[in-house]
Amino acid sequence: MKVELKIWRYDASTGDRALKPYEVDVSDEATLLDTLDVVKDKVDGTLAYRKSCRMMICGSCGMRVDGGAVLACKTRIADVVADGHVPVVSAMGNLPIVKDLVVDMDPFWQKMQAVKPYLEPRLDRATEKENIVTQERMDVIHKESLCINCGCCVSECNSMESDPDFLGPAALAKGFRFVGDARDGATVERLERYSEAHGIWDCTRCYFCNERCPKGVDPRDAIAKLGAEAIAHGIDRDPGAKHAKWFVTSSQTTGWLREEELIPKTNGYVSAIKQLKFGLSLAKHGKVRPLPIPHAAKDVSEARNLRKLVREQDRGGALGHVQGEHALERLAHGHALGGETLEEIYARPNAAPIPWLPEVEEAVAT
Ligand code: SF4
Ligand code: SF4
Ligand code: FES
Repeated sequence: MKVELKIWRYDASTGDRALKPYEVDVSDEATLLDTLDVVKDKVDGTLAYRKSCRMMICGSCGMRVDGGAVLACKTRIADVVADGHVPVVSAMGNLPIVKDLVVDMDPFWQKMQAVKPYLEPRLDRATEKENIVTQERMDVIHKESLCINCGCCVSECNSMESDPDFLGPAALAKGFRFVGDARDGATVERLERYSEAHGIWDCTRCYFCNERCPKGVDPRDAIAKLGAEAIAHGIDRDPGAKHAKWFVTSSQTTGWLREEELIPKTNGYVSAIKQLKFGLSLAKHGKVRPLPIPHAAKDVSEARNLRKLVREQDRGGALGHVQGEHALERLAHGHALGGETLEEIYARPNAAPIPWLPEVEEAVAT
């Protein structure tokens, strides 16, 4: 298969930058990484990019195709060049380029270090035996544990683009991996640290990190869970936390979002008074009501009942987040192995086929 592509070449030592076209022959099954290998082997040996495992596990081959971050070894080139499209391959964003498609990962690792990416054990629970955690409890941090530190999420993070000090999606997802770990004893310290400036409340919720992550970590969801845990622990001094809390108060009292009161409730009355001129100009143009008199929506009882239901379920903190969070759902409702045998679990309608179990094999052999 003939493949045409363009690659942004760059040399940090000279500052030379050029978009260069290439044309190579590759197999129909080739990945983008295979294609770059052919370019390097047969056309231009000076092309620089990173790779190692070639099987989506080492996180080395992050780069951009047509402006969006991908793992080169996970990207089938036939899909990219379908209908004669000529893709533009470039280095990941938000990290300094060293050469061609190779970026300096130091800023990435500094953020990672800042969240203390290691277990700080609960010494109050130290036992002489292993600290065994149930599978359903570990399932809560399963997604975050899948991170391979590729940086694809960081590449597309628009909060990081405007604030290079923002901790960023990869480091914060790692943070939840430990906040959600039942064995960790530094939950409050972590939530305090992650709630500071450049932390969880500085995320703009653009969801690009969820979209680009090649491993399904969903870093934005992890950040939302951190925010919910922070509020559940009473760590809510950041305007971002106050903003989130006002949405809840506002909806349960009137069923509406009382936007006119959002600024005083989020940033305080002094800040609101300073912005009075701006507020009056909005009112003049009909953007806000001149007199913010709260009025209840016709069906406000539905919003209140919903809130009551959530309260009754006692789903505070990360447990309140159910965006595809089956692990949290199962834990909250006491599912998973709740008294069922393995045979019963695999006999459920639509259950997956029973996996190979050594003890079954042994029983058959004897
Ligand atoms: S959702 Fe937040 S962390 Fe994710 S890319 Fe957007 S700003 Fe960055
Ligand atoms: S969260 Fe996903 S995109 Fe971000 S570094 Fe981890 S694996 Fe890569
Ligand atoms: S080469 Fe390891 S993830 Fe692509």
